[in-house]
Amino acid sequence: MDLKLNLKLKPSFFFSFLTLIFLLKSPGLVSASNPKCISTEREALLTFKQSLTDVSGRLSSWTGPDCCNWNGILCDAKTSHVVKIDLRNPSQVVNSDEYKRGCLRGKIHQSLTRLKFLSYLDLSSNDFNGLVIPEFIGQIVTLRYLNLSSSSFSGEVPASLGNLSKLESLDLYAESFSDSGTTFALTASNLKWLSGLSSSLTYLDMGYVKLSGAGETWLQDFSILTKLKELHLFNCELKNLPSSLSSSANLKLLEVLDLSENSLSSPIPNWLFDLTSLRKLFLRWDFLQGTIPSGFKNLKLLETLDLSNNLGLSGEVPAVLGELSQLKYLDLSANEFNGQINGFLDAFSKNKVNSLVFLDLSSNKLAGTLPESLGALRNLQILDLSSNSFTGSIPSSIGNMLSLKKLDLSFNAMNGKIPESLGKLEQLVDLDLMANTWEGVLLQSHFINLRSLKTFRLNTEPNKSLVFKVPSTWVPPFRLELINIENCQIGPKFPMWLQVQTKLNSVTLRNTGIADTIPHSWFSGIASEVTYLILANNRIKGTLPQNLAFPNLNTIDLSSNNFQGPFPLWTTKATELRLYENNFSGPLPLNINVLMPRMEKLYLFHNSFTGSIPSSLCEVSGLQILSLRNNRFSGSLPNCWHQFMLYGIDVSENNLSGEIPASLGALPSLSVLLLNQNALQGKIPDTLQNCSGLTNIDLGGNKLTGKVPSWLSKLSSLFMLRLQSNSLDGQIPDSLCSVPNLHILDLSGNKISGPVPKCINNLTAIARGTTNSEVFQNLVFVVTRARKYQEIVNSINLSGNNLSGEIPAGILDLSYLRILDLSRNSMAGSIPGEISKLGRLETLDLSRNRISGAIPQSLAGISSLQKLNLSYNKLEGRIPQLLKFQDPSIYIGNELLCGKPLPKKCPQDVNRRLL
Ligand SMILES: *[C@@H]1O[C@H](CO)[C@@H](O)[C@H](O)[C@H]1NC(C)=O
Ligand SMILES: *[C@@H]1O[C@H](CO)[C@@H](O)[C@H](O)[C@H]1NC(C)=O
Ligand SMILES: *[C@@H]1O[C@H](CO)[C@@H](O)[C@H](O)[C@H]1NC(C)=O
Ligand SMILES: *[C@@H]1O[C@H](CO)[C@@H](O)[C@H](O)[C@H]1NC(C)=O
Ligand SMILES: *[C@@H]1O[C@H](CO)[C@@H](O)[C@H](O)[C@H]1NC(C)=O
Ligand SMILES: *[C@@H]1O[C@H](CO)[C@@H](O)[C@H](O)[C@H]1NC(C)=O
Ligand SMILES: *[C@@H]1O[C@H](CO)[C@@H](O)[C@H](O)[C@H]1NC(C)=O
Repeated sequence: MDLKLNLKLKPSFFFSFLTLIFLLKSPGLVSASNPKCISTEREALLTFKQSLTDVSGRLSSWTGPDCCNWNGILCDAKTSHVVKIDLRNPSQVVNSDEYKRGCLRGKIHQSLTRLKFLSYLDLSSNDFNGLVIPEFIGQIVTLRYLNLSSSSFSGEVPASLGNLSKLESLDLYAESFSDSGTTFALTASNLKWLSGLSSSLTYLDMGYVKLSGAGETWLQDFSILTKLKELHLFNCELKNLPSSLSSSANLKLLEVLDLSENSLSSPIPNWLFDLTSLRKLFLRWDFLQGTIPSGFKNLKLLETLDLSNNLGLSGEVPAVLGELSQLKYLDLSANEFNGQINGFLDAFSKNKVNSLVFLDLSSNKLAGTLPESLGALRNLQILDLSSNSFTGSIPSSIGNMLSLKKLDLSFNAMNGKIPESLGKLEQLVDLDLMANTWEGVLLQSHFINLRSLKTFRLNTEPNKSLVFKVPSTWVPPFRLELINIENCQIGPKFPMWLQVQTKLNSVTLRNTGIADTIPHSWFSGIASEVTYLILANNRIKGTLPQNLAFPNLNTIDLSSNNFQGPFPLWTTKATELRLYENNFSGPLPLNINVLMPRMEKLYLFHNSFTGSIPSSLCEVSGLQILSLRNNRFSGSLPNCWHQFMLYGIDVSENNLSGEIPASLGALPSLSVLLLNQNALQGKIPDTLQNCSGLTNIDLGGNKLTGKVPSWLSKLSSLFMLRLQSNSLDGQIPDSLCSVPNLHILDLSGNKISGPVPKCINNLTAIARGTTNSEVFQNLVFVVTRARKYQEIVNSINLSGNNLSGEIPAGILDLSYLRILDLSRNSMAGSIPGEISKLGRLETLDLSRNRISGAIPQSLAGISSLQKLNLSYNKLEGRIPQLLKFQDPSIYIGNELLCGKPLPKKCPQDVNRRLL
């Protein structure tokens, strides 16, 4: 705040400003020497007014005879000449309704040039809708102050401005907000006119004026301004930063230089260090490279240095910056600075005067431990060291930094105990200690004087122990607005210090060991403000209050607790509700679409909800994920689906009956459909072929009838197809072989007959091992624990059907196959001799078929094979001796099989013994 104010105090017009206030505030004095308007000047002003458009009537006072009394006009007390026109937009809330109304529009009339004593002209923050800055302004040679900023001028800055040889302050800052919606570009491709201002101009702002056409000599052109104190060239499309400045002598008075948001990509140039009057230097959001030169030691008056967001500045943060005793504001964030900061901080601590107020070193590659000398920064208000690689613990000298308002140490590799001295920081508002590996205990004393604290973030690794040990009745001095604590032990009680936090607008208490009930009054207390309510991974008990309105809530995550009782009837515009892994019971509200109209992700799995799935869910138009697995929902699935974004439905492990709704075919984004372990009947609806983005289908464990659909080949993204444990019949359609991305196929436990299709070699995903991890990610979003599916990638399970015929030779082409289960069918023929081509096979189950012939030797060549079952077939001959399996049960039921591990000896062995 202070810093901004400083920027605005321009000595050149400060005097006139004071005069103005003085005149306005002393009516007696004004009337005593009341300047009477000069009529030619009055005429000039009226002509000027007529060419303007004044929607809000700002110029309505411009009527009477005495133009010196008109709004925005000031006359000289002695001569009565108009000396000042101030028509700056009275609203400075850019783009607000008031601002838009306040804008003057239209044209600027040349009559202004008739005001022969005008020294101050401010037309800023208006909307001239692309008007070119009139050349005749260069004729008002009496001007000392000219402000044309943010007024939607366009075109080339007129060189005639170079005739204003008395001009002290020129503001052409061009970022503007025109009602027309157009953004106008002001350019200056020739800067030679600046020389006309060389002995007067002290302040120049050309922010957002495009200087890319001004050539390589731009700096030379500006440096002609020998009196210049402030130069603002923010976002001017400057591309080159000259490495030398021949006439740098000229900028000796420069105090403020802003070259931010250009595309300057060179090292920091040394000529800067000749500008020994510099107080503020802004070089942020450029692409500067290299290290911080030691030349900064020359800039003894430097108060502000902003090199943030250059991304490429590197090397150590040099001690030389620490030696700058006037430095108040230092921002080096978002660069590549590395090494330790001890030298730099030590240098600061040695300064007699230590004025540093703001220090941001975040998002660099700084490392090492923080030294005790940190505590010497007693005036520091903002300290941001986040997103570096700092190690070690927080120095206890932190307690000396009594001015601190913000402390951010998040995303480092710091560890150890948090010092109690932290509790002394009475001014501290923001404390962020996320993403480090703290341990130890936090006592009342850690917080004892933190009466200003508003946001508090803290977490540690789950395997560290960080414990709050505060008295159960402790009422802390702070009222937080944001709390984010993860992996720290706060419970088992929901402590008083949390209960009294009623101003919260964001709550995250994840894995904090709270195993208590939470008073309903706490929820209702925060309901109106809270945006994030995350209480996941605790053991919180009890019910939730009903019928609350959470107008600002965005995300609700109460997952993995012991909540019970009914679904919370909360009115909210939240987009995400996670209640999974609790013990909620009872039905879902029939008007869930009214209570939670903006819901996108609804995770209710693993609870005890009952009743039917309300059809009003079809009216939740933004729904993306519906995860209701493992509840006790009954009745049939609603048949009204039509949401455009719905991509995951998991209602598995319930008690749903009736048919699979045909309207699922109207969900163009559907990717994951898990309906398994229910009591669904009827056929698989043909409409599902419309959902061409389906990746994961599990309809297993139902009572489905009819055939395996032949349109499956249309689902070119299909990764998993599980239809197991139903009553499907007919043959396996050949079209199944043409599903190019299929990695998991389970048709087990049905009544399917006929052969295994010969074309099975065409399952290219299993043949070539092309895994599509994105497809799996979709599943993970819906199921959150997709591990059980991960285990069966590249598997074919056709067991427990009536399949007949031989094992097709084509199966040997599926070289990424991990699991093959053909057990409990009527397969005949022999095991293919080249079975070792399945070199990644882990499980092979051919048990309970009619397979004959010898066990091929090559089976022993599959080193990955862990499970084998060949029992109850018609195999014969010796079990290959190289097969390492010792369990005889995997071979039993084959009368003609002999040799270890079966007790039955082969005839040759018996003969040998006899010999
Ligand atoms: C010009 O006017 C704008 C407001 O429209 C103000 O913010 C800026 O400080 C003024 N420039 C100078 C140099 O006074
Ligand atoms: C500005 O001054 C130059 C001479 O320095 C003159 O030629 C030119 O006409 C003047 N321009 C205006 C717009 O007054
Ligand atoms: C603690 O967990 C982190 C990741 O969560 C892991 O990197 C670290 O090795 C673990 N340390 C111990 C001792 O288990
Ligand atoms: C779940 O809640 C019911 C009451 O609705 C209760 O009887 C049961 O014990 C709870 N189960 C668990 C695991 O807490
Ligand atoms: C499943 O639903 C049927 C009615 O559809 C009902 O008869 C049965 O009791 C339910 N089973 C369970 C375990 O809730
Ligand atoms: C889906 O497919 C069926 C045919 O199977 C078709 O009649 C219907 O129009 C398709 N579209 C929708 C949105 O269901
Ligand atoms: C093999 O699959 C492709 C699609 O991946 C299909 O175009 C082709 O017809 C299939 N061939 C056989 C013999 O099924």
